Amino acid sequence: PAPGWATEADVVVVGSGVAGLTVALRCAAAGAKVTVVTKARLDDGSTRWAQGGIAAALGEGDTPEQHLDDTLVAGAGLCDEQAVRALVTEGPDAVRRLIATGARFDADDTTGEILLTREGGHHHRRIAHAGGDATGAEISRALVEAVRAAGIDTVENALVLDLLKDGSGRAAGVTLHVMGEGRRDGVGAVRAGAVVLATGGMGQIFSATTNPAVSTGDGVALALRAGAEVSDLEFVQFHPTVLWLGPEAEGQQPLVSEAVRGEGAHLVDADGVRFMRGQHELAELAPRDIVAKGIMRRMRERGAEHMYLDARHFGAAMWERRFPTILAACRAHGIDPVTEPIPVAPAAHYASGGVRTDLRGRTTVPGLYACGEVACTGVHGANRLASNSLLEGLVFAERIAEDIGERIAEDVTAGAESAGREPPAEQTGPSAPGGASGEAPPLASEAPLFASEARYEIQHIMTHGAGVLRSAESLARAAERLERVQDDAVAQLRRDGKTAEPGVETWEATNLHLVARVLVAAALRREETRGCHWREDRPERDDAAWRRHLLVTLRPDGA
Ligand code: SIN
Repeated sequence: PAPGWATEADVVVVGSGVAGLTVALRCAAAGAKVTVVTKARLDDGSTRWAQGGIAAALGEGDTPEQHLDDTLVAGAGLCDEQAVRALVTEGPDAVRRLIATGARFDADDTTGEILLTREGGHHHRRIAHAGGDATGAEISRALVEAVRAAGIDTVENALVLDLLKDGSGRAAGVTLHVMGEGRRDGVGAVRAGAVVLATGGMGQIFSATTNPAVSTGDGVALALRAGAEVSDLEFVQFHPTVLWLGPEAEGQQPLVSEAVRGEGAHLVDADGVRFMRGQHELAELAPRDIVAKGIMRRMRERGAEHMYLDARHFGAAMWERRFPTILAACRAHGIDPVTEPIPVAPAAHYASGGVRTDLRGRTTVPGLYACGEVACTGVHGANRLASNSLLEGLVFAERIAEDIGERIAEDVTAGAESAGREPPAEQTGPSAPGGASGEAPPLASEAPLFASEARYEIQHIMTHGAGVLRSAESLARAAERLERVQDDAVAQLRRDGKTAEPGVETWEATNLHLVARVLVAAALRREETRGCHWREDRPERDDAAWRRHLLVTLRPDGA
């Protein structure tokens, strides 16, 4: 659809989690005109739900080098070491700057030192937390307040549709569908010379996930349609300990943080046996993929639908002080962790892959950046280390802001020089009023939109065919069923001469379908088991053939 309204900025940031708001704050502080657009309210994304915390070598005896080692081991041979080095060396100062921005972390009452806990795969206590187990909520509060205080332009309830490009193929803004936001309502455009995708994850491609309803892979879908390269989508991380609410549970499920194991909780089967002992030197604190696999194996051996996390020995006082959010969530579902073990099972949690970027967050489309879960910077490899995600959002947001700042400075210098040489030409280019010439038409308007109900079909297909355990057979079946969903949408278009009604739900279903299709294709291609990609028919890691990344771009015809 043609945009009904347009506004302009130097930078448009799509998404409002830790990554997006940090980019926005840093760019605004450097003098750029920034607009943040976000699909729901400013604090509705995944950041708010993060429990455990943010990993950084802040503690005595810990070093960035040790953090690097743990990250590389978890990443199972596919991390980009340079990216990880940037993460772990710049991480501690990035956390300090976050504190200066207003985030309050739990600290020792007498010394004021930040309290640190452990999570899976970490050999040190290096996870800073806030409000006990409400770290993301505190970070989100602090950043939203800072963005409001800085007077940064924000557009809420705005689903981004597609990338605008100028005549040279450079990003020139985004089109978006806005609901109920006054003067900027309906389909519009924000034109800007720099576009930062910080749209978060895609957990909603599965039936059960820790991700909120807004995590529908919109950023990856937009990037694919814009011709950007996407990488490592097959590496979906399944969190080992998600509160088990029955076999038919759907949508966002309550997380039981790794930090609960970090503080000494045990994983047990129905007989109380600690089955992770003997499977890894770190037992319950092994990297996340190993614990998830350990749980799944035991569930299979026992024919059980879940295992248990036993932390009764914490006692009521510790539960209330250290894990108030998890305690409340469990009690709301009729389970009291003070007196009974918590039923848990793995559920989709984090996309380790995403839109491929370099070390400054630049994608393969000039002017388009990606940051946070939507990005594939190379820090996570085949399996993200616990609590590295908030840190990645912070560190790479700062790198992106620096790159954009340099670019704006270069443009200003080039503009001043050319202004001195020749009479001012009619303004063209990314931030020209009225838009750049030669914008690529948004692809979403040409392809059929999927009916909103397709979302549930896609989720079931993905959970059964591309979940924790996959095989060539299950993935091929998933691919075929996804194709049928597409055929139905095309048939409707041919029959009725129109596609599903444009709206947030139909665009989300369309994005979910595209991302699911690419994910399944990548998972089929990778004929090995590595990190969080677990192929039952290829149970071994195959470094000779597969110590490499799968890169995907969409052809103009959508194939
Ligand atoms: C958790 O608290 O277990 C989640 C941490 C993470 O996903 O990094």
